[in-house]
Amino acid sequence: MQNAIDLAIKGKYTNSPNPNVGCVIAEGDKILSKAYHCKSGEDHAEVIALKNLKKKVNKKMVMYINLEPCCHTGKTGPCTKTIINSGIKNIEVAMLDPNPIVKGKGVKHLRKNGIKVNVGLCRNEAIKINKDFITRHKKNRPYIVLKQAISADFRITNPQNKWISSKLSRDDSHFHRAESCAILVGSNTVRKDDPRLNVRLSKEKLLISEKIRQPVKIILDSKLSLNINKYKVFKGKAKKIIFNSLQTKLDHKRNIDYIKIKKEKFGLDLNSIMKILANDYEIKRLLVEPGKELFSNFLNKEIFDEIIYYKSSVFIGNLGMHNINITKSYLKNRSLILDSVKILSNDVKIRYILKE
Ligand SMILES: NC(=O)c1ccc[n+]([C@@H]2O[C@H](COP(=O)([O-])OP(=O)(O)OC[C@H]3O[C@@H](n4cnc5c(N)ncnc54)[C@H](OP(=O)(O)O)[C@@H]3O)[C@@H](O)[C@H]2O)c1
Repeated sequence: MQNAIDLAIKGKYTNSPNPNVGCVIAEGDKILSKAYHCKSGEDHAEVIALKNLKKKVNKKMVMYINLEPCCHTGKTGPCTKTIINSGIKNIEVAMLDPNPIVKGKGVKHLRKNGIKVNVGLCRNEAIKINKDFITRHKKNRPYIVLKQAISADFRITNPQNKWISSKLSRDDSHFHRAESCAILVGSNTVRKDDPRLNVRLSKEKLLISEKIRQPVKIILDSKLSLNINKYKVFKGKAKKIIFNSLQTKLDHKRNIDYIKIKKEKFGLDLNSIMKILANDYEIKRLLVEPGKELFSNFLNKEIFDEIIYYKSSVFIGNLGMHNINITKSYLKNRSLILDSVKILSNDVKIRYILKE
């Protein structure tokens, strides 16, 4: 099963909105076939592993899958049907599919057709690699990662230099962009930084052979005050969504969706935005690159799952903007768990997970 889980992760840059799924077919200790799900609309891992199997199926063979096989027709047919037709009689599934269309039904269908299915092997590891997919189906919002580059004195802007963190940190952050279905920023960040919000890594670096998936670009601009002819983020073919408080309309030519959202005291209603992203855009993983205001608001509302800091060793002082509105207090009901720390030349990457 660990092999299936390791394989599943390979799909993380290309498979959204689908989950990471790997499949191994073994006889005793010998792996006979293995596969992972690469892209929505293409074959699922179980189907590819069966297609790649060179030996005739026998009763000793076991199929290991990190997620319950689907039993419905979506962009592809039900995997349970292919498995039943293959003659495989033993299946290990790490966890049930949290998607209500499938949940438990896939396993039930297989058992009904005489297949022995055991659920739960390496369950915790399986949950870990599909936290985004699970969050989308269970919480009706994307898995939200807040990422900031901060100085040693917690400043996020530097009047002396465009960048706060090192080149190594910036390259590392592009892996997070690549893994995310969408990137979200506030209007001031567009105005001040004019970011492109794209992935600038090669396929070789991501270890993929498919075309790089560019994330959806999301901007919070209540009053539609940004000039879309001026800023880089509005250029290019990638889908753009501008959440605002004025109008809903679709600009097909520029691939921009304008969506009207109610305004609250500190900005657009983040809960409604997250619901729309999960349901209408099938965003399972969202990377937020927030300035002070947006970061403070996500923390205040406690809607996020991870914080990633790239902390540099420079001191910026009062001319730099603090990363958070320090007049407020945050996370009164929740706490963070330190997940990992990584040294990146003169910076340190710190990853926190919000405790459930
Ligand atoms: N070091 C880093 O990692 C990093 C990352 C990002 C940004 N930055 C820096 O941060 C600075 C900008 O920070 P900032 O605090 O001024 O602005 P911000 O957080 O980038 O954007 C805030 C603006 O977004 C809009 N907004 C709409 N709904 C919101 C909501 N629910 N919560 C919060 N904002 C909402 C509001 O403008 P409207 O009224 O127009 O809607 C608000 O003024 C820039 O100078 C940039 O360089 C640094």
